[in-house]
Amino acid sequence: MCTVISKSPEDTERLGGQIATKLCGNEVIALFGGLGMGKTAFTRGLCRSLGVEDGVSSPTFALVNEYHGKYNIYHFDMYRVTTWDDLYSTGFFDYIDNGILIIEWSENIEGALPDNAVRISISKGDNDNERIFCIEGLSI
Ligand SMILES: Nc1ncnc2c1ncn2[C@@H]1O[C@H](COP(=O)(O)OP(=O)(O)OP(=O)(O)O)[C@@H](O)[C@H]1O
Ligand SMILES: [Mg+2]
Repeated sequence: MCTVISKSPEDTERLGGQIATKLCGNEVIALFGGLGMGKTAFTRGLCRSLGVEDGVSSPTFALVNEYHGKYNIYHFDMYRVTTWDDLYSTGFFDYIDNGILIIEWSENIEGALPDNAVRISISKGDNDNERIFCIEGLSI
């Protein structure tokens, strides 16, 4: 496990970019941490670093956004996903192994995460702009 402190949204995007360089293209990246913790900022940095040019925003209504860069990236928001049926209807299981899955609100689907998922938990630091990233399953 490794801990990284971010002091700004730009720092968080950079961390996403740094993690992107470690990926092979078929990882599941599970993000944990409540509203406004920086899950989307992190995802934006990760996607940009993989050459995604489209805007990256929370797929709150679509449940999943798809981006194409060096790899296919499937960006989920599980905020409203509370049952297995909901989860199946997002296509989650079909996407596994066919690209990078990056998942906001992984708390809601924890039982469905593969054992080899990269787990990233974000919490608040000492001031409003500080975030503490706890990363498991990937060395940076
Ligand atoms: N160190 C930081 N890293 C990331 N975001 C930060 C940081 N400091 C402040 N912020 C602010 O926190 C907010 C993070 O928003 P973001 O949409 O990335 O969060 P989120 O975890 O995806 O939230 P949601 O659960 O609503 O989707 C932004 O308003 C950003 O400016
Ligand atoms: Mg978000």
